[in-house]
Order: sequence, then C-alpha cells, then structure tokens
Amino acid sequence: MINEALKLIRSGHPIAIPTETVYGLAADIEQPAAIEKIFAIKERPYFDPLIVHVSSINEVTKVAAEFPPLAKKLAENFWPGPLTIILPKQAKLNPLITSGLNTVGIRCPNHPIALELLQKLGRPLAAPSANKFGKTSPTTAEHVRTEFNNEVFILDGGPCSIGIESTVISFSDDYKKIYIVRPGAITQTMLRQFAVVEFRKDSAAPGQLDHHYMPNLPLVVLKSDSLLTESSYEHIQTRLGVNKLYPSWVDLSLSNGPALCARQLYQALRDASKKNGANALIINFCLQKSAGPYKADELWSSIEDRLDKASSLIL
Ligand code: TXA
Ligand code: MG
Repeated sequence: MINEALKLIRSGHPIAIPTETVYGLAADIEQPAAIEKIFAIKERPYFDPLIVHVSSINEVTKVAAEFPPLAKKLAENFWPGPLTIILPKQAKLNPLITSGLNTVGIRCPNHPIALELLQKLGRPLAAPSANKFGKTSPTTAEHVRTEFNNEVFILDGGPCSIGIESTVISFSDDYKKIYIVRPGAITQTMLRQFAVVEFRKDSAAPGQLDHHYMPNLPLVVLKSDSLLTESSYEHIQTRLGVNKLYPSWVDLSLSNGPALCARQLYQALRDASKKNGANALIINFCLQKSAGPYKADELWSSIEDRLDKASSLIL
C-alpha cells in the first residue's frame, strides 16, 4: 500500500492519508500541478492555505525561512501531534500552498502510516483535510471514499484517534506570545507552559471562516439546559425556513468525556444526516448537566468551536 501511495505521489496524484486528527488529501509540495489538483478535487478556493506535513523537526527548514526557539520548543514538545505551527515561509515554497501569504502552517502528524510515507518520500506533503470545501472532515477511510466517489487512492489507517483538526498557532512579531487561531486538542493550558497564549481570529488566516465543517443537513446546536419545547420547535422552524421540523438527533453522549466526544463527533454528524425524511440535525451540547467531572476540560471548547462553525442555528 505504501509503495503504491509513493508512486502516485511521485507521479503528481494527490492521495488520502490517515492522521491522528482527520484524514488529509496529500500532494508533493514540489509539483505545482499536484497542488492545483488538491484545490480542484476539494473545490477549495485558492484563498484558503494548506498545511504542510513534515516527518520530523528536521524538515521544518525545508519550508520555513525561520525556526525561532519558541517554535522549536513547541515542536519538540508536541510533535508528532495535533499542533500546526505558522512560521515565515521560504521564498521558493509554491505560493499556491500558502494562498500568497508570507507564512506557512507546518505540522508533524502522529500516525505511523503518515510518518512512514513522509519518511520514505523524503520531503514534506501539503495536505488539507480530505473533504469538499466547507464540509465535515473525514475521520475514516469510508468517509473519504464517499466524499470523493472513489476517485482518490486512500491509505487506510483506521479511524482517527483524535477526531477534530489540529490546533493552529501563530506568534507575535517578537515571538513572546502564542496566538491560537484554531483551537484543537493541544489546549491553551498545555501551551501556556511555554509562553503567554491568546485566542485570536487571525486576519491573516482566511481559512478561519465562520461557516465550515458543515454537515449535509442544517445543524441546530442546543446549549441551554431547558428542554426543547413546542415554542422552540416553532422558533427553529422559522429560523430554518421549514414548514415542519423533522429532526434527527445527533447521538453524542457528553458523559463519555471530551476525548471520546471529539473522536466520535464527525461520525455522529454523518450518521444523523442519513436519517430518512429528516430536515435538520439537532445536537444537545448542554455541558452544565451532562458533562460531569469533565466539564472544565478545554477540549470541550475546541469541540464547541467546530459545532458553532458547522451550525445553522445556536440556541
Ligand atoms: O489536523 C489537521 O490540521 C488536518 C490534518 C489533515 O493534518 N488538516 C487540516 O487542514 O485541517 P485544513 O486545510 O482543512 O485546514 C488548514 C487551516 C486553513 O484553513 C487555515 O485556516 C490554517 O489552517 N492555515 C494554514 N496555513 C496557514 C497560514 N499560513 N496562515 C494562517 N492560517 C493558516
Ligand atoms: Mg478542512
């Protein structure tokens, strides 16, 4: 399988690869036509930059112009793992990968198959999540297959263990502060051991759109503990513009804790979308009662970030 994957990558074909977060659609950073194919397959606009995946810290300087001590320390601590680090890019790196920005997002994925592929290839791979633009990310090979109608080769590495996309960080100009531009499994508390951390909607991160990760049916996120009443049903109908609400409830048991919920989130959204006759998804995300001892875990806020962006209505 790996040999077939290598052959395809080398001959300029994007392929789907497993990572610990979500599946990626990977292509050789040195073949512009292969990078263009990623955008075509995903129907992704060119303003949304791709993440470059490396096999180890040693490969960072192949794509980044600088690797300051704070960034290096974070890479040493969290790689391989779900942390994407934005650094100044090398001039020669294809601007299509970075959407014309002068920075590049880099991460080393924690998945044996992805690592083996990267090591054997001997150079980094550009890989966004393997889904159509704006849609739910794939966490199994089957999700990728459905998304692209069997059109891309898939390295099947089983279900992703983390289940939501990596934390993306950038830095202040003096490299004293870390900015979280996309929350994920590497949390603010984990990063705070190394520098001051702030959340920031990065104006230089055009991919941070308010609507993203969208399932096939409109999603309603319930955040209040009050039960869904007749009047809120009416409210939902009006807001979604449907005559009668036929809801499909997303089966996500919050009492299982945030790690399991993150892992199951996208599968649960996909499963709920399949219910016959349903015209909306509803997810119960009331942490107050259900989440018990895990309530304070910051991973909940990363899950909430994805739900908010996937949603059509938050109540
Ligand atoms: O976990 C992940 O990060 C997965 C797996 C496959 O590694 N990848 C992923 O890629 O989620 P994608 O393309 O779906 O999301 C990458 C996001 C972009 O939308 C953008 O917001 C941000 O990362 N990004 C990438 N490069 C950037 C840059 N130079 N400056 C700011 N944001 C950047
Ligand atoms: Mg994506």
